[in-house]
Amino acid sequence: MKFFVDTADIDAIKELHALGMVDGVTTNPSLIAKSGRNILEVTKEICDLVDGPVSAEVVATEAGAMIDEGRKLAQIAGNIAIKVPLTWDGLRACKVLSGEGNMVNVTLCFSANQALLAAKAGATFISPFIGRLDDLNLDGLDLIADIRQIYDNYGFDTQILAASIRSANHMSECAKIGADVATAPPAVIQAMADHVLTDKGLATFLKDAEKAGIKIV
Ligand code: G3P
Repeated sequence: MKFFVDTADIDAIKELHALGMVDGVTTNPSLIAKSGRNILEVTKEICDLVDGPVSAEVVATEAGAMIDEGRKLAQIAGNIAIKVPLTWDGLRACKVLSGEGNMVNVTLCFSANQALLAAKAGATFISPFIGRLDDLNLDGLDLIADIRQIYDNYGFDTQILAASIRSANHMSECAKIGADVATAPPAVIQAMADHVLTDKGLATFLKDAEKAGIKIV
């Protein structure tokens, strides 16, 4: 499973990238706003840092304007994935932009039907939002499993990019289901390393090493 980092925070991306944990980056208007930076500048800096796909989202809502914005975003770098929302205008923009050879990430997906439409419109990635379904006491992971089953039934090339990931558990469950990509905030990726028994075991090892005077010099 590819790890994408869901942030526009350059320092956070650099830290995980140094560990080989960054196969791509996703941003959206809220994350760009949080960065306080110009979208074109911060996206260019991310593209220069990361070889994998970098998703940058349009803010227009009408297909023609989405296509114009998408083309502008695609000029930033060769690894741009243009992000469009899962609306009929977004699907129209997806069809045109993907037809021009651009990577397109169709986002704000909350149903298997929406994911089917995105695949038929030529999406490179589909972004189902797990956490926001969980917020409504629905099961976001069930959606990932449904999309995986449907895409595999018909051999769709669209990659499942699990998004709105809130926990390390979401990451492992997405991997078990077979999501192609999971995009998560840096803190969630870092939390994947945490386990109380690891901490406990290490403390015991270090205490015994000190008691025995073990030194590797
Ligand atoms: O990539 C989508 C993600 O940023 C949304 O996450 O936690 O706001 O649902 P969240």
